[in-house]
Amino acid sequence: MRVPNTLISLLGLTSTPALALCPYAAQMGIEKRNTPPPHPHIPRDTPSSDQKGVFYMNRIAPGTSKLYIADIDGSNEQPLLSNSVFEYHAEFSPNGEWITFTSERNGDGNSDIYRVRTNGSDLEELVATSSVEDSVVMSPSGKHIAYVSTTNGYKANIWVMEIESGKKWNITDTPLTKANASLPDGYFRPSWSPDGEWIAFSSDRNSGWYGHGDPVFMGVSGWEHTQELSIYAIRPNGSDFRQVATRSGWSLGSPKWSSDGKRITFYEMTRENTWNSHRPESIDSANSTIVSVDFETGSRRVEVQGTGVKIFPQYLPNDNIAYFTKGSGKEGLYTTGGGFVNTSSVTVRSPAWSPDGKKVVYEKTEWNVRPMDKKLYSWDPEWEYRFTDVFPQLSNQNVFAMTEKQLGNSSIVSMNANGTNEHLVFNDMTTDFLETAEVSQGLAGAFQPSWSPDGKWLTFGVGFWFQTRAESGGWLVRATANGTYYEVLTQSETTLSANSSIINSGFPSFSHDGKKIVFRVWGYNSTQGDKSQLGLRMLDLETRKISVLTTEWDNLPFFSPDGERIVFTRKVSGTNYDVCTMRPDGTDIKVLTSSGANDAHAVWTHDGRIAYSTGMFGFQYECALYDQTFQPYGQVVVMDADGSNKQVLTDSIWEDSMPLFVPNAALNNSPKKPRH
Ligand SMILES: *[C@@H]1O[C@H](CO)[C@@H](O)[C@H](O)[C@H]1NC(C)=O
Ligand SMILES: *[C@@H]1O[C@H](CO)[C@@H](O)[C@H](O)[C@H]1NC(C)=O
Ligand SMILES: *[C@@H]1O[C@H](CO)[C@@H](O)[C@H](O)[C@H]1NC(C)=O
Ligand SMILES: *[C@@H]1O[C@H](CO)[C@@H](O)[C@H](O)[C@H]1NC(C)=O
Ligand SMILES: *[C@@H]1O[C@H](CO)[C@@H](O)[C@H](O)[C@H]1NC(C)=O
Ligand SMILES: *[C@@H]1O[C@H](CO)[C@@H](O)[C@H](O)[C@H]1NC(C)=O
Ligand SMILES: *[C@@H]1O[C@H](CO)[C@@H](O)[C@H](O)[C@H]1NC(C)=O
Ligand SMILES: *[C@@H]1O[C@H](CO)[C@@H](O)[C@H](O)[C@H]1NC(C)=O
Ligand SMILES: *[C@@H]1O[C@H](CO)[C@@H](O)[C@H](O)[C@H]1NC(C)=O
Ligand SMILES: *[C@@H]1O[C@H](CO)[C@@H](O)[C@H](O)[C@H]1NC(C)=O
Ligand SMILES: *[C@@H]1O[C@H](CO)[C@@H](O)[C@H](O)[C@H]1NC(C)=O
Repeated sequence: MRVPNTLISLLGLTSTPALALCPYAAQMGIEKRNTPPPHPHIPRDTPSSDQKGVFYMNRIAPGTSKLYIADIDGSNEQPLLSNSVFEYHAEFSPNGEWITFTSERNGDGNSDIYRVRTNGSDLEELVATSSVEDSVVMSPSGKHIAYVSTTNGYKANIWVMEIESGKKWNITDTPLTKANASLPDGYFRPSWSPDGEWIAFSSDRNSGWYGHGDPVFMGVSGWEHTQELSIYAIRPNGSDFRQVATRSGWSLGSPKWSSDGKRITFYEMTRENTWNSHRPESIDSANSTIVSVDFETGSRRVEVQGTGVKIFPQYLPNDNIAYFTKGSGKEGLYTTGGGFVNTSSVTVRSPAWSPDGKKVVYEKTEWNVRPMDKKLYSWDPEWEYRFTDVFPQLSNQNVFAMTEKQLGNSSIVSMNANGTNEHLVFNDMTTDFLETAEVSQGLAGAFQPSWSPDGKWLTFGVGFWFQTRAESGGWLVRATANGTYYEVLTQSETTLSANSSIINSGFPSFSHDGKKIVFRVWGYNSTQGDKSQLGLRMLDLETRKISVLTTEWDNLPFFSPDGERIVFTRKVSGTNYDVCTMRPDGTDIKVLTSSGANDAHAVWTHDGRIAYSTGMFGFQYECALYDQTFQPYGQVVVMDADGSNKQVLTDSIWEDSMPLFVPNAALNNSPKKPRH
């Protein structure tokens, strides 16, 4: 144990008696370090007086995204725009004069569409609303655009606009295209035929809300949705809707036409690989195939097979197909004629080639720079939206705590509600067993701090989460708010196994009186339905006894501020998670959400409502094209405690989650400063 004596003596306690509660806790050697973590932090004022306060939320998206144009061999690369803000998903117009693209220049998270000359001049807004506008392509005549918008009830649909008049109409939410609205029903990546008579696109309509991973006693082990796409075509006026290509259990995406209009090329991968393709730990085992079909007959031809996630196929004028491959060691721009531009030193995404095959446009993204407190687009103008790292929680004394995950090493930090005086409470990197690789992939760390009502303690889980939770340990810990002392509350082991009843505990929440902690358990045998390793438990801090509240597939419990109920997430069927509440004794369970998609990760708001993330609107973009994310379809919703009055708070193409309302009163007047 490497605990400096100076820190131990401050409390008049040593770590040893606390650790002695738990025979396995010795694996959690911890060295205290109270230096503030080094990361950018924008200081800010309180919001304007006509707003109610700050609405904090987390977004999983690149921190920067900037468009570049280059020759097809990668040479002569230049930034496309002189005033880049956050741009992506660029495409050349068929006459080669324009580049259309998406920009978030009207607010972080609010996707709008624009066009600009290939030399960067004549920037022009095409459609900008508070909904998503994305994936814009110009028609061969140059008179129309087709694009994706979520104006139709937050769902991604294809729209067409006549540029000169601004007249716009949707072509995929019509009687002709009517699909089952309770299933995925999104439409993505439109592409004009060379004669302008057709628009091809991908869609997950009438598919299902699928998870991923191995079969378990209820569905599959991984809860994040995967995507089953087929290729369709429709006339720009919305007639003649038809399916072009489909494969049950597969995802067929990003269609593009051959120059004679006879074939459509696209990528094809198993549905499971749509998950692997956007996760850093599994992308290198994922693959896709570039195929094409004859538009009239549907006859299929494999164009590029083998390993690697091959995406963004596009015909070049000589009928070679250009495409992009992502994954370590393979990143780059390829053509079937043998062209290759190695882009492994940067993150290039969504390349599109000019009609003459001489130029390529793409975005470069970076992942580490959206700072704490960065202003986001406010979908509810009464609140100023701001970025936070994950699991934000405000104490009764208006002190803010969170897991510093995207901005750090998944340690617990606290600060004043106004963002000042940031302080490291628990540094998980000084434990002996957490591995840097798993922490940096977001799979391990100190997760979900919860305040004791007197503001003196924070409880959280330290260990391995998500898909690593069955094989690796999770310890419940509580630490003093000033970070000088911690105590391990439940035992675990670094490696869990079938022959051991030692399990993974995490995601704790203090009761309103500070006497109890509710948390979730998981073990090696949970996926077989072993009730002793499933559900929510209650730890009595006085007696140290643990009682069983539930034995279902439950997670993320939170005591209501009045202590009357616990909100939590339950897997209610093989493919569906819902937000529920119950009394603290485990009775009177109420299911508050009913979409067939995942509704989860609920927290109480300052005014006694429940905010959570929903997948019910489906994906806004093709799943396999994302990076570094878990649930890119997630949007934040708030509802009354009985499940009524649901109100959608976000509408972006990114994974939005972790809501926390901090009213002006809390920002202006934090009665207690955390002590050092
Ligand atoms: C950019 O291209 C347009 C159209 O070809 C031309 O009118 C304009 O002068 C060019 N601008 C610059 C700065 O070269
Ligand atoms: C989409 O188009 C259909 C058919 O024209 C129309 O009935 C529907 O109202 C449109 N939806 C929206 C949101 O405009
Ligand atoms: C729509 O899908 C849901 C969920 O699978 C199913 O229960 C329902 O019967 C479907 N409705 C129609 C009209 O097919
Ligand atoms: C839509 O376009 C097709 C093909 O151009 C045409 O045959 C059809 O009459 C049009 N439908 C309507 C309602 O205008
Ligand atoms: C591609 O992935 C599938 C599904 O994971 C796998 O069955 C197949 O062997 C892989 N093919 C190659 C060439 O790696
Ligand atoms: C791209 O360059 C990197 C760094 O030089 C190298 O490791 C990688 O193998 C190259 N990729 C290919 C496909 O050649
Ligand atoms: C994360 O951990 C590494 C290795 O221990 C350390 O160098 C780095 O400073 C830490 N970053 C933060 C933000 O704490
Ligand atoms: C840290 O907090 C504990 C519990 O509130 C308190 O007893 C102790 O004095 C504090 N230590 C310092 C150095 O402020
Ligand atoms: C328990 O099972 C693991 C494999 O899951 C094995 O490596 C280990 O030796 C077993 N331990 C005992 C005590 O049987
Ligand atoms: C876990 O399941 C295996 C296989 O069913 C069984 O042999 C083992 O005893 C179980 N372990 C525990 C701790 O219940
Ligand atoms: C931030 O809040 C703290 C605690 O209430 C207060 O002492 C400090 O003056 C505030 N700082 C600013 C810049 O508002």
